[in-house]
Amino acid sequence: MGFLKTFREEIQIIRERDPAIKSNLEVFLYPSVRAVLKYRRSHSLYKKKHYFLARWISQRSARKTGIEIHPGATIGKGFFIDHGHGVVIGETTVIGDNVTLYQGVTLGGTGKEQGKRHPTIENDVMISAGAKILGSFTVGAGSKVGAGSVVLEEVPPNSTVVGVPGRIVKRDNIRIPAEDLDQIHLPDPVRNDILALQKENKELRKLITEVLNETKTYSSQHDL
Ligand SMILES: CC(C)(COP(=O)(O)OP(=O)(O)OC[C@H]1O[C@@H](n2cnc3c(N)ncnc32)[C@H](O)[C@@H]1OP(=O)(O)O)[C@@H](O)C(=O)NCCC(=O)NCCS
Repeated sequence: MGFLKTFREEIQIIRERDPAIKSNLEVFLYPSVRAVLKYRRSHSLYKKKHYFLARWISQRSARKTGIEIHPGATIGKGFFIDHGHGVVIGETTVIGDNVTLYQGVTLGGTGKEQGKRHPTIENDVMISAGAKILGSFTVGAGSKVGAGSVVLEEVPPNSTVVGVPGRIVKRDNIRIPAEDLDQIHLPDPVRNDILALQKENKELRKLITEVLNETKTYSSQHDL
């Protein structure tokens, strides 16, 4: 009964999120379904400290699906990985409800942290193809991570992050201006100093000319 319920949920998730699916039967062809069902089994074994068996199931599943989910990861309801090749989810990753990943996503560590080393992904997050999220920070609910991004820092809720390293380009659907991220039109202090000196020089020349003219006029008026 539990399996059937899970399976029905999987059908519903895939039909909602992949416009390419044409019939319920096709759900069997999605590596995500197999990977998630195997993950649920291996995670329950992991929690009972049957570490070897848990890893054995997850590694077998990884070989067949191209989706490696460590049994220690915590994953909520409505999880879907579209296409699935080259997905890696680390041991201390925490994933909320209704999260979608695409192929080539890594939820990994930087190699510099101990304990909680992998990200926390809150509800309703979408992580696009090839994105890498590295470290123990949180990606806030409702956020989107662009294809090919490398995210190394906390992401507030309802944000869009793109690029390498990831930068927030939208928050609550409002574009974040990129002026302060302009790497081409950087301030040039030497040029600014030269311009200021040129301006000062011009003003001084004007002043001297005025004084000389006034002196000349005064001299001619007083026969000096
Ligand atoms: C990030 C994404 C989800 C769009 O999110 P969004 O909130 O609707 O953002 P927008 O499309 O309004 O883009 C916002 C800005 O980010 C830029 N941007 C979007 N995706 C980007 C990416 N992957 N890399 C770099 N810049 C990107 C846009 O050009 C835009 O820049 P601008 O403000 O200078 O015009 C989408 O662009 C994306 O990457 N989708 C990939 C989905 C996927 O993996 N598909 C695979 C199917 S097999």
